[in-house]
Amino acid sequence: MDLGVRDQGYLVIGGSAGIGKMAALALAADGARVAIAGRSRDRAEAAGTEITAATAMPVVALTTDLIRAGAAEEVVAQAVEELGGLRGLAVTTGLGPRGHRDLLSGTDEDWTSTFDDVLLGTVRACRAVVPLLSEGGGGSIVTTAAYSVRAPKAHQVPYASLKAGVVTLTKNLAKSFGHLGIRANCVCPGATETEILAAMRRSVAKSRGWPVESALEQIMVEEWGMQVALGRAGRPEELGDVIAFLLSERASYLTGATVNVDGGTDF
Ligand SMILES: NC(=O)c1ccc[n+]([C@@H]2O[C@H](COP(=O)([O-])OP(=O)(O)OC[C@H]3O[C@@H](n4cnc5c(N)ncnc54)[C@H](OP(=O)(O)O)[C@@H]3O)[C@@H](O)[C@H]2O)c1
Repeated sequence: MDLGVRDQGYLVIGGSAGIGKMAALALAADGARVAIAGRSRDRAEAAGTEITAATAMPVVALTTDLIRAGAAEEVVAQAVEELGGLRGLAVTTGLGPRGHRDLLSGTDEDWTSTFDDVLLGTVRACRAVVPLLSEGGGGSIVTTAAYSVRAPKAHQVPYASLKAGVVTLTKNLAKSFGHLGIRANCVCPGATETEILAAMRRSVAKSRGWPVESALEQIMVEEWGMQVALGRAGRPEELGDVIAFLLSERASYLTGATVNVDGGTDF
């Protein structure tokens, strides 16, 4: 499908790896001008080189850390300058490494760290881009929550609670700025085999002597209690394609949605 993104500018914060990188790749493959950003310059530049090699489109590699106040405004301004304007923003940061705690063991520091990473970072990025999209006649924002917002688990209370905040934030964006031509949608990935889960597949297969092809799926069912209709983890490109679609003109009447991309995960 032609996404209708040719020559339009898109910024993917979190685009230097995983799901965000695949979203950037899908946009570039359809002729979009793309900037990607992450904390590590090397990682961003390597991802940019990889996307350019696959699509023949130049990619702007930027660095930012959304946990720092002011960083979102800077990276959005850089993207606008490099790309000549922005039609959309995806935020795929917010893994909340300190958010995987149960209620009794999670400290105030775990909660504030997860708040900064998962919710405030997304707020900052959206706040920085809305005026620019408005000036340009509208555009699209995609945020990232998680399947855990529908299926809270005892061992990740801060993470799931603040991802639920991202869902609500996104619905608010859609309602508040729809009249300016700005759409906002939130993607909820299921277990998706980006670097962390790919490493887990390999290590579990090795330590337990399980077949590598099914080791991750076995953990998902036996230890995480996940029932996935498609019976497997998601591939990063399956998430990236949906994000690219939501950002694109093909999704022009889709806003305020929480989109579960989880292979039919039920609990
Ligand atoms: N993979 C899953 O199973 C899964 C499931 C549910 C939800 N999700 C959600 O999906 C999103 C993407 O996950 P993923 O698996 O694709 O992660 P990933 O492979 O670790 O990629 C995360 C990206 O975000 C960047 N990043 C992280 N923190 C940042 C910060 N503070 N400022 C700027 N950039 C930052 C990383 O680059 P640097 O490290 O260089 O900063 C990287 O480019 C996350 O919101 C995650 O919570 C994932």
